[in-house]
Amino acid sequence: MQRWPILFMVPAQALLFHQVDQSQAPACPMDSAGPSWGIWIDGKNASEGEQAYGAAYSKLMRRALLEVYRMQQKHVSTEVAAMRVQHLLHMPFLDKFGGLFDTKKAPGRNFRRAFECIQREVPQQFVTSMLQTDIDDVYDVTCLPSKPCRSPLLPLRHTLEQVFKSYHSKMAKAKLEDEKLRLLASLLKNLALLHPLPDRNGRSRLLLLQFELRRLGLACGTMLFNNNNNIYVDSVSVLAAKIKEGIAMYNRAVSTGVNPWLGSQRQTFPSSPYAKELSRCYEGHSANRGHGLSIE
Ligand SMILES: *[C@@H]1O[C@H](CO)[C@@H](O)[C@H](O)[C@H]1NC(C)=O
Repeated sequence: MQRWPILFMVPAQALLFHQVDQSQAPACPMDSAGPSWGIWIDGKNASEGEQAYGAAYSKLMRRALLEVYRMQQKHVSTEVAAMRVQHLLHMPFLDKFGGLFDTKKAPGRNFRRAFECIQREVPQQFVTSMLQTDIDDVYDVTCLPSKPCRSPLLPLRHTLEQVFKSYHSKMAKAKLEDEKLRLLASLLKNLALLHPLPDRNGRSRLLLLQFELRRLGLACGTMLFNNNNNIYVDSVSVLAAKIKEGIAMYNRAVSTGVNPWLGSQRQTFPSSPYAKELSRCYEGHSANRGHGLSIE
């Protein structure tokens, strides 16, 4: 197995100095080798190894991740990175309109189908937290509990511009790391709810997440337990906490050279208080039951 660069083994003295001056912080690893596969294979599937989702997927992600790191070094903007990520995944915009609740496309279908049931089965406050973020929301939460109703259709480019604008203006004022993580989680949630790409929305968000963590100087990466399925049902607080957990796992991967989710007991996140109701809703409505649909 390839080892990660020596770059990270900086002397303690240097670390002390770097703590004072963030801009001089030791550089993040610039390669996507070694245990970095834990970035695109979620922790829940780590035991199935690097090829859990197929060799082609791993090859594509390894290459795309490297390009994401390079873009960050060149100080590319979030928006440009987001556009470029689509091309790296061979999935440029094809549509003028988006919106998870207003599209007939397959992606997000399981949550869309389960949503009516979720509204019925879990308290409204909990449902609201699925749609409400710290930035301008793609869907109008005041329309609940009947249905999200800002649309009929969300013009993609305009909505994306609004989402990024709101994200950046809040980020410019954020001081605490936790605030910034919440804003990042808010961006990802809104992108998931907007669902701008015909496919590969999840992996495109995953790459953008790695990009933003570096751009904001929050971390060099994150290895999440679940890359996608929980994004709709988790609140911003829970998502932010999971990104934080992933950062700790990434750091452990860098220092040990192995995927830390292997053999992990995962005690940090007990299942959601409405896990039973949520999986009942998913089971009743999903096209392909039991295939990576766990809401955990
Ligand atoms: C990944 O993990 C989930 C949840 O444990 C499981 O249902 C799925 O079959 C696993 N493998 C793949 C390839 O999704």
